[in-house]
Amino acid sequence: MSAPAENIPVIEVTDLVREFHGRRVLNGISFKVMKGDTMIIMGGSGCGKSTLLRHVIGSMKPTSGSIKLFGEEITGLDEAGLARIRRRFGMLFQSGALLQSMTVGENVALPIVEHSKLDPGIVDLMVKLKLEMVGLTGFEHLKPAEISGGMKKRVGLARALALDPELLFSDEPTAGLDPIMVSVVDILTKDMTRKLGVTAVVVTHDMTSAFRIGSRMIMLGTGPNQGKIIATGTPEEIRASANGEVQQFINGEPDGPVPLKLSKDDYVTRLLGHPRLKNNAFT
Ligand SMILES: Nc1ncnc2c1ncn2[C@@H]1O[C@H](COP(=O)(O)OP(=O)(O)OP(=O)(O)O)[C@@H](O)[C@H]1O
Ligand SMILES: [Mg+2]
Repeated sequence: MSAPAENIPVIEVTDLVREFHGRRVLNGISFKVMKGDTMIIMGGSGCGKSTLLRHVIGSMKPTSGSIKLFGEEITGLDEAGLARIRRRFGMLFQSGALLQSMTVGENVALPIVEHSKLDPGIVDLMVKLKLEMVGLTGFEHLKPAEISGGMKKRVGLARALALDPELLFSDEPTAGLDPIMVSVVDILTKDMTRKLGVTAVVVTHDMTSAFRIGSRMIMLGTGPNQGKIIATGTPEEIRASANGEVQQFINGEPDGPVPLKLSKDDYVTRLLGHPRLKNNAFT
């Protein structure tokens, strides 16, 4: 007999490796996300968080390893297979990724039109509902260029939620939002996961937000630990982690196991090719 659906991880990544031009950006990543969890992915800039997300949504193919969504291996799927899986999840990209030539409303409607044959009147209603959820009622006729950065982010979120996905991926959903909007987006995520059983994977640098919404956390390493998971667990376990890099990151300390590379002297030496001179005109 097969396992009941609730015991099958929504996401199961095993030994994921990705190399770009021989450089290993993801180095043996394995983790599971269960239904209703909010998995936080954190780690320093450039450590591979967005790349990891792109692999999990099937927009990049791994060098090796396995990625299962809803119990199905996606690494070998063709576009039609991926489209079928994509119908079940929403994605908020780090850049917002709105189409500039379309209005806010048309951008939010995009996944609905792409994946369903609903009447325009229904689509319009769904768009209005999602814009209301992110506090943007009345902005549907504006173009992305006519709204602020934080508003673009919220339009991206409304679009990711357009089809009421079972699974939501967000890459830096709160970056560029004011503290009140961060709370609004956090509450929205929490309501969806805790009340509706939606599963979420959120990449964030915002530790307040991470500890507010996360039920599980993963931290990717830098330097010699590039592309590896250096810590995983509940928020409490991560807070209590004995790993210095984790503590440095969650407490926002400028120096620690991750060295502060750009000390002033190194910088001048590097640029000039020799150490700074005394009474140097630059200082
Ligand atoms: N298509 C690509 N070709 C070559 N290298 C890439 C490609 N995509 C990502 N990389 C490299 O992979 C590394 C990880 O990038 P990624 O965007 O995943 O970082 P990140 O953890 O999301 O950083 P940030 O917090 O700044 O968003 C970087 O060194 C980047 O240059
Ligand atoms: Mg990124």
